[in-house]
Amino acid sequence: MIQVLDKKFRKLFSENEIRIQVERLASEIKADLGDKRPLFVAVLNGAFVFAADLMRALDFPCEISFVKQRSYQGMESSGKLTQVLGLDSDIKGRHVVIVEDIVDSGLTMYHLREQLLQQQPASLRIACCTFKPEALKCPLKLDYVGFEVSTLFLVGYGLDYDGFGRNLKDIYVLAE
Ligand code: IMP
Ligand code: MG
Repeated sequence: MIQVLDKKFRKLFSENEIRIQVERLASEIKADLGDKRPLFVAVLNGAFVFAADLMRALDFPCEISFVKQRSYQGMESSGKLTQVLGLDSDIKGRHVVIVEDIVDSGLTMYHLREQLLQQQPASLRIACCTFKPEALKCPLKLDYVGFEVSTLFLVGYGLDYDGFGRNLKDIYVLAE
């Protein structure tokens, strides 16, 4: 058990289990895009750890860029997002893979996907480290999924509880 702020969490996936899944995703991505010079678009803040590991597991030419969005709190799941940090790369005609830490309701991914599609990439795929299928609220196809999890709250490996816990090497789940 570990403590992050006022809550207790227990280990769900170890660093080693995560590495195995990251390597699996890397080989799936290579099979699809290994000769396409893909551009990865990682969603800050949470995806920075997963994106760093995923990139280093790839042994073919690729690029990475970052976006940062903020969903207004209190605004119910309209999923209205403000782009705090926009994309600095031209994605027109590129093979793009969005890299996200977790897909929960799916609204973040759904809206980012719509925004990026307007810029006419050659293809657009989604890679996420963790996915809560029972929480999904919109139609979304995820191409590369590390772990399917329950709807319980997770921290570690980039995921935070009120800003803390991102530095944990393993993934933890809220202990009831
Ligand atoms: P969405 O509901 O799919 O739009 O997820 C939005 C964001 O909520 C994710 O990118 C995470 O930053 C955050 N989030 C969702 N579930 C968790 C969790 O279990 N732990 C930490 N952050 C989460
Ligand atoms: Mg996030």
